Amino acid sequence: MFLGAPGAGKGTQAEIVCEKYSIPTISTGALLREAMAEGTELGKAAKSYIEAGNLVPDSVVIGIIDERLKKDDCKGGFILDGFPRTVPQAEALDAMGVEMDLVISIEVPDEKIIARMSGRRLCKDCGTSYHLIYNPTKEEGKCDKCGGELYIRKDDAPEVVKSRLEVYHTQTEPLKDYYEAKGKLVIVEGQEKVEDTTALTLAAIEKSRG
Ligand code: AP5
Repeated sequence: MFLGAPGAGKGTQAEIVCEKYSIPTISTGALLREAMAEGTELGKAAKSYIEAGNLVPDSVVIGIIDERLKKDDCKGGFILDGFPRTVPQAEALDAMGVEMDLVISIEVPDEKIIARMSGRRLCKDCGTSYHLIYNPTKEEGKCDKCGGELYIRKDDAPEVVKSRLEVYHTQTEPLKDYYEAKGKLVIVEGQEKVEDTTALTLAAIEKSRG
């Protein structure tokens, strides 16, 4: 599981790790954005929370995760990115009988995050995340993986990022203590370069696998 502030690099690392170990990444943020793009009831309900930088209610995201983890592709393991984000969500995961092998918290100071978020671009079709400076696409404006068009997330506006950081510190950060108490937490200091954070992340995973 990846924990960390918005923009810490959870999605970027999850993408790399899931390819390496051939397991799926389950990102509640990505699932909610998909629902918003499709205009489903879930998407309509989530939109106002997400665009204001608030958390979607626990009952909604717990339901999404419960459904998703029942799918066959999760049988050989999976990565959680962006879930749980509150103590009640972590307790719900425990109640589902899901035990994490490892919880990696990627730590990046708030000032760096605010600067970083303005350069993020996402693929409209496959959701892959890029950065204008730190992780650029080969061809400007086009996804390297599927050729899709890139867009800027509405919740990456600086004032929304500030609210998301506040929400992170008050509601999500307590999860570090929750998983520390279970002996599952490893802190990875987010580095300037994506590949340097990947090296630390993979070292933590390999160490936990013995
Ligand atoms: P979600 O999509 O989960 O957003 P988030 O946690 O705010 O995280 P981000 O996706 O913004 O950042 P990230 O850490 O994945 O960073 P990334 O790798 O993209 O959630 C969105 C919203 O959905 C929430 O605000 C909430 O409303 C709702 N939601 C989702 N889950 C929920 C839940 N469980 N409960 C309730 N509500 C929920 O990297 C960021 C940028 O930096 C990219 O451009 C990247 O290329 C670049 N970058 C990455 N690593 C580096 C590096 N080492 N150096 C330089 N740049 C880097």
